Amino acid sequence: MGNTLPEQYTEVASATAFTAVADTPSVAHNVWKERGLFLLNFLKNPLVNASVIPSSKTAGRAILSGLDWSTIHTVVELGPGNGTFTAEIIARSKPGTKIILIELEETYVELLRNKFGSRVTVVHDSAHRMNEILADHGLATTDLIVSSLPFLQKQISRMIFAAILEQTRHGAAYRFFTYMPPVMKWFYRGLPLHKVNFVMQNIPPMWIYGIN
Ligand SMILES: C[S@@+](CC[C@H](N)C(=O)[O-])C[C@H]1O[C@@H](n2cnc3c(N)ncnc32)[C@H](O)[C@@H]1O
Repeated sequence: MGNTLPEQYTEVASATAFTAVADTPSVAHNVWKERGLFLLNFLKNPLVNASVIPSSKTAGRAILSGLDWSTIHTVVELGPGNGTFTAEIIARSKPGTKIILIELEETYVELLRNKFGSRVTVVHDSAHRMNEILADHGLATTDLIVSSLPFLQKQISRMIFAAILEQTRHGAAYRFFTYMPPVMKWFYRGLPLHKVNFVMQNIPPMWIYGIN
């Protein structure tokens, strides 16, 4: 199956880089520079970036609401982009919580490493390899998966859903957002989803769904 994946996924998988992080996170992260990069990545690859501007801080708070952070020791974020949700995850996590970010776009990988330093592990790879990536880090399970992934190609989505279901069967909480609930429900059909939140203060407004 692996050999038949589109090039953008196989190329990255063979060039996966782990934990090359700066010791001192950069404090001077420019919001406009990040927005510029976001827009540029949207223009470069609209289906992968899927949004013109990053999610709001309010969306970050909403997607992480209602979770028991005292029981969360490992977090995986899929498609962190410029790290809006990552900052909120770090703010809520206990010291020592392992935070693994899986991002396909190289320019975000660099940004995330500079922005968050050694507090996170940034993996330049595709989300469909989540469980292999966890295993590479000596982890069989995660407690929380936060995803911003867009609707992806069918074969990749199937692999991502299988990986997510395996983790949620072991008790992981899964949280993601959508701008289009009816399309999402068709896309995710068969998955035991429940609505978690609705965020009006985001452009565009978003619905948050989850498992567990
Ligand atoms: C809509 S952006 C979300 C960024 C950010 N989390 C936010 O909400 O503002 C989607 C992100 O998913 C990433 N992405 C798309 N396909 C991916 C894949 N197969 N594996 C990992 N990341 C992927 C894109 O590069 C992009 O950073």
